Amino acid sequence: MKMRVAGRRSLTADIEEFTLEPADGAALPSAAPGDHVTVETPSGAMRRYSLVHPSDAPETYVLAIKREAASRGGSASMHDAAVVGTILNVDAPENAFPLGEGHAALLIAGGIGITPIYAMAQSLSAQGRAFRLIYCTRDAAGTAYADDLRALCGDRLTLHHDGGDPERLFEFWDVLGEPTDAQVYCCGPTPLMEEVRGMTGHWPEGHVHFEDFKPVDVVRADDHAFAVVLQRSGITVEVPADRTILEALRDAGHKTVSSCESGTCGTCKCGLIEGEADHRDMVLMDEEKAGKIMVCVSRAKGDHLVLDL
Ligand code: FES
Repeated sequence: MKMRVAGRRSLTADIEEFTLEPADGAALPSAAPGDHVTVETPSGAMRRYSLVHPSDAPETYVLAIKREAASRGGSASMHDAAVVGTILNVDAPENAFPLGEGHAALLIAGGIGITPIYAMAQSLSAQGRAFRLIYCTRDAAGTAYADDLRALCGDRLTLHHDGGDPERLFEFWDVLGEPTDAQVYCCGPTPLMEEVRGMTGHWPEGHVHFEDFKPVDVVRADDHAFAVVLQRSGITVEVPADRTILEALRDAGHKTVSSCESGTCGTCKCGLIEGEADHRDMVLMDEEKAGKIMVCVSRAKGDHLVLDL
């Protein structure tokens, strides 16, 4: 879909909210809580962002995007170049983090992970379902949507500021120590999700859900360009410093499968025939790393890789 930036505003010093409307005025697909869209940012990098507001008949999609410190192609491009009137290519919503039906919910968000969690809180509230939201941020100034959440949730909201100090993390054991009928939905930085995962091992299977894709840039500021040789098709694809292997393969017209695009699901695994990989995924076991690579996040340490493609 072609979508136009219809509005943008600053939520915090490094989080911008973008309101997108269909460029041709066509009806938009519905937006369920937990949905995300893949956006081709002005730099050409593809990035996935959660939709902030669920709706059966949305007129706009709203995204909240944090400028990541090491960003070159994704969030920085949105912050610097997506102004009111900019046209963006946006895929239809997908959902890797669905809100189940009927049950109470314990929502846990850290930082920009609030985006899908806020959408869930809106849906739960509209349905009159019981929920509690624990929202952890560094400080009040860096807390997106604080006033909206207070108005929506009232005393169901717990805002916790840790000042960036690991010693001042929220005491999750107080709410997770005793499994309840509620289901847990968690989205945030990896340390927060690991903390919650570590404290919910005794919860019933299927009752604890994580948003696994990270809405961050997988390309870092000091990354370099390299070549990927596709052994089976005999072609060489240049991977620019600000593109992933997966994006470069797609740019070259090579069909690839992927899901999370953050190195967590295993879908994009390829055979690695030659070259030293800079492995950045969270899937491969050490013994697999000499012969496999996740092309959505991993790169070359040297000037080329040969892949079994
Ligand atoms: S697409 Fe999930 S690990 Fe690459």
